[in-house]
Amino acid sequence: MVTRSVLLGCGSALPRTVVTNDALVARGVETSHEWIVQRTGIAQRYIADGDEKTSDLATSAARAALAQAGVDVGVVDLVIVATTTPDNVFPSTAARVQGNLGITRGFAFDVQAVCSGFVYALTMADNFIRLGQAQTALVIGAETLSRLLDWSDRTTCVLFGDGAGAVVLQSAQGAGTVADRGLLSTHLHADGSQYDHLFVDGGVGSTGTFGFLRMDGREVFRHAVTRLSEVVDEALAANGLTAEAVDWLVPHQANRRIIEGLAKKLHLPEERVVMTIAQHANTSAASIPLALATAIGDGRIQKGQLILMNAMGGGFTWGAALVRV
Ligand code: UT7
Repeated sequence: MVTRSVLLGCGSALPRTVVTNDALVARGVETSHEWIVQRTGIAQRYIADGDEKTSDLATSAARAALAQAGVDVGVVDLVIVATTTPDNVFPSTAARVQGNLGITRGFAFDVQAVCSGFVYALTMADNFIRLGQAQTALVIGAETLSRLLDWSDRTTCVLFGDGAGAVVLQSAQGAGTVADRGLLSTHLHADGSQYDHLFVDGGVGSTGTFGFLRMDGREVFRHAVTRLSEVVDEALAANGLTAEAVDWLVPHQANRRIIEGLAKKLHLPEERVVMTIAQHANTSAASIPLALATAIGDGRIQKGQLILMNAMGGGFTWGAALVRV
């Protein structure tokens, strides 16, 4: 028998305001709905109003995940929030979420791995659970990334949105085979030599400001396709599986063309790929759990199915996770 982290529920939260591509044009961004849809697949994004904080979205998503899991908040002993847009420099947004939920036991912290943040956070929670240091974890990806956007830079401002998604993981015993429910394996990577392709040009320890998101999109795109397919191969091989066994690919939602390229490499038909980029745009660490919550919520993902998640982001960081729900 082995200890597995079983995914018992998933929830999401979005800001109240939807901003369509045409609304960006109306706001003066030199772009068009056609360009954005053709190059990225994005039709709209949700943008947090001034009174909506990352922790608010994270807390709502966490409550929804707990409700779906049927798990009492009192048993949660680990809260991890993956975010690039914490409410404050410190304490962590996870501490705020923990407080909002009335949890005073266990431990809580944030993870910063930008768009790979959710896969990083999931990995950490799984490791704590398998080591017996936690029993029930809330793993949340939450962002108000719009606060880092330079609205005069059309090459980046049209791509991102705000939101949050959360999952509940709980310790359970499995047989140690790929038929087990729960996380089968996780795989993380980073290559800091690529730091300057996707970064924020400010920070408390450098400029004393919080800066704006800067990206060499073409270079990120080129690396994304290669890195994501490598890490997917690694995850499948580690479990003695082929892509045939995957019921659903739930990827980070950065660009429809990247996702389609990956699905094609895996010979996965589009009916087995969860794509929410049209509605949510790129919500960084929130994009995978938002997509997961959407496909569980509408009944596409069924209990017992095998889900492959993967992501790549600034750092560069990238990773993948295989989970049987
Ligand atoms: O989540 C983290 C990981 N991030 C990613 O994975 C993002 C990866 N990169 C991408 O998704 C794509 O590279 C972008 C969507 C960012 C850009 O698409 P692209 O097909 O690589 O376009 P490009 O940068 O090569 O630009 C093509 C043209 C340029 O004009 P010229 O130089 O050909 O005259 C741009 O100036 O499109 C122009 N352009 C725009 N036009 C209208 C760039 N942004 C816009 C825009 N509206 N918003």
